[in-house]
Amino acid sequence: RLADMRGLREGRLTLAIVSTAQYFLPRLLGQFCDANPGIEVALTVTNRQAVLARLAASEDDLCILGTPPEGLDVVARAIADNPLVLIARPDHPLAGEVNIPPERVAREPFLLRERGSGTRLTVERFFRARGLTLPMRMELGSNEAIKQAVIGGLGLGALSRDTLALEGTTGALKVLDVAGFPLLRQWQVAYPRGKHLSVVAQAFLDHLVAHARQAVEAGPTIARIAKEAAQE
Ligand code: PGA
Repeated sequence: RLADMRGLREGRLTLAIVSTAQYFLPRLLGQFCDANPGIEVALTVTNRQAVLARLAASEDDLCILGTPPEGLDVVARAIADNPLVLIARPDHPLAGEVNIPPERVAREPFLLRERGSGTRLTVERFFRARGLTLPMRMELGSNEAIKQAVIGGLGLGALSRDTLALEGTTGALKVLDVAGFPLLRQWQVAYPRGKHLSVVAQAFLDHLVAHARQAVEAGPTIARIAKEAAQE
């Protein structure tokens, strides 16, 4: 289409994304803004509960969540895989074990995100469904805080795998081999049903559908490049 080839000359795009999506979405935005330099973007990064509230109030053009929004009259499309993993420090006794039973993991102190986090909701649901409660050592308000606390030896953590895009190969964090994990989820792009999408919003939605999978899968490559750059 001619309009696609020329790029969208101007417009404003407002997005609300869950905090775990900030590890891949900016790369997609980078490509999109390169092709459409006239566009102004406002990006709100917050947790699931806050994104759902913004979605219900139709505050943004598009929202990105880690799992489908429940209980809202919205259009949601899966755009890429979003596995959730459990992590430990590499010298943790469980780090070298395979097929660890969930019951064993549930005896370890856990670092959990704040209430309202989709990451926390997913991991708590998994253990609750097995009659288990995770012993919470500490509640932390961000994915980076969880990583640093795990590195600090405070306990085990649960994170969307994509949040490890940069640490992937540095060896500071180890993904545990727990039975039932990774929990398979899919990134979702959502907007209120019946909402009129602007030309820019529709173009970015199409860009997500076409390229999100590839951007998510590029995470490990980015980790390798970062590691190589650090060694030079
Ligand atoms: P969140 O991310 O924990 O920042 O709400 C949502 C998710 O990955 O499910």
